[in-house]
Amino acid sequence: MLQVKPVPPERLPALLRRMPKAELHMHIEGSLEPELMFAFAERNGMSVPYADVAALRRAYVFNNLQEFLDIYHAGTLVLRVEQDFYDMAWAYLQRAAADQVLHTEIFFDTQTHTGHGLSAEVVINGLHRACVDAKEQLGISAALILCFLRHLSEAEAFEALEQALPYRDKLVGVGLASSEMGHPPEKFAKVFARARALGFRLVAHAGEEGPPAYIWSALDVLKVERIDHGVQALRDPALVARLVHDHIPLTVCPLSNLKLKVFPTLVQHNLGRMLEAGLVATVNSDDPAYFGGYINENFTQTFAALGLNAQQAYQLAHNSFAASFIDASTKQAFQHRLAEVFETFE
Ligand code: HPA
Ligand code: ZN
Repeated sequence: MLQVKPVPPERLPALLRRMPKAELHMHIEGSLEPELMFAFAERNGMSVPYADVAALRRAYVFNNLQEFLDIYHAGTLVLRVEQDFYDMAWAYLQRAAADQVLHTEIFFDTQTHTGHGLSAEVVINGLHRACVDAKEQLGISAALILCFLRHLSEAEAFEALEQALPYRDKLVGVGLASSEMGHPPEKFAKVFARARALGFRLVAHAGEEGPPAYIWSALDVLKVERIDHGVQALRDPALVARLVHDHIPLTVCPLSNLKLKVFPTLVQHNLGRMLEAGLVATVNSDDPAYFGGYINENFTQTFAALGLNAQQAYQLAHNSFAASFIDASTKQAFQHRLAEVFETFE
């Protein structure tokens, strides 16, 4: 690991913004900004049940994951045609590129939208077309991960997987999202086994609000390669030892944790303790339109609150590439660009 030159605290935000990084945990439906939501509603001949953008933003106050999911789900109602998915993803990809994200792995689900009468084809083709154009026009690489909704049944997850199979080459993996408590990973053992047999990369949300036991079963039953969130792991030293030993990455989302009251303040966030424990932690935005910031905002606010330093910034960015599903040579090339920025930063 590169030994990084010390950077004075007042220069750290500039370094955090400039450093190349990968984003591995963001839900594209959670990047739908209120302005775009009103625009889609209008062109689709629908209405948003809020007077204006400011009134909608004022509603973004949550006490837990479920309160967020209810509002988030209501927001997806304005997504009706392929162009909506394209425009939503394009808006996110532009912001990510501006934040020096070289590679992003985007979560989406089809179950929300098929529940509104859309086809999986419309969703996947719109998102994928934006990823292709972003590579060409913005130079950012993007991959798609299909999330199953864990508050629904395993049979419904199987149905979503089947519907996505004609578009298999447009997807890199599958994940597990939505209401965690009461919906343990093992509920989806069979569908994850099937996805694994089909060659999908596997991730799952675990240990956001749920107990360490959910992280154990995501690893041992679902056989996931990364844990999304995973902040509850520190409650279980044996689990931490396992995660460190197996280099299992954790995609941490600090502003999400703050807004969903997983931690009462950012100062109390355990990201620094995760790094000290040797965990492969990364920083991500989760649902940036709802949680008050894209990836660079997550980095700068968390570093300020926790007093983290340039070495830890390098570690987190290095981890983000190591934990990604890109091929080994591209990974090395991105990590080389990262080292260069740190070596030349004044
Ligand atoms: N947790 C679970 N499901 C989600 C989230 C999250 O943070 N964001 C969007 N779906
Ligand atoms: Zn998430």
